[in-house]
Amino acid sequence: MILLTRRAEWSASHYYWVDSWSEAQNRERFGKCANRNGHGHNYVLDVTVRGNVDPQTGFVVDLKWLKDVLEREVIAVFDHRHLNLEVPEFRTLMPTTENIAIAIWRRLADKVSPAATLHQVRVYETPDLFADYYGEA
Ligand code: NI
Repeated sequence: MILLTRRAEWSASHYYWVDSWSEAQNRERFGKCANRNGHGHNYVLDVTVRGNVDPQTGFVVDLKWLKDVLEREVIAVFDHRHLNLEVPEFRTLMPTTENIAIAIWRRLADKVSPAATLHQVRVYETPDLFADYYGEA
């Protein structure tokens, strides 16, 4: 068994806002992140798959195929978008680093098997902030 990680990057904007809170509560809790016009991040995604090395090819998955899956399922949906307004998952869910990692896991989980098993989704919002998700416990 071996782990293989592929990285992908996108840029997007978001804001943090809880509808049932007052403006003052949102400002208090989220500060500048509550600005409804949003702000941008250059996100970095590391997707790790787990499987056995094919004895003929030496690969755990076809790398072009994995790249295409990430492009189609994540980058095409998230890149240069306003996450709150344009990505379905975040119409009702806060686009935090944690929730983005979970959303990406759900988008990928049944797309990478049975060729390999999805092992970890890591999303960096900034170089010093990231979330890891391993699926439902
Ligand atoms: Ni932010």
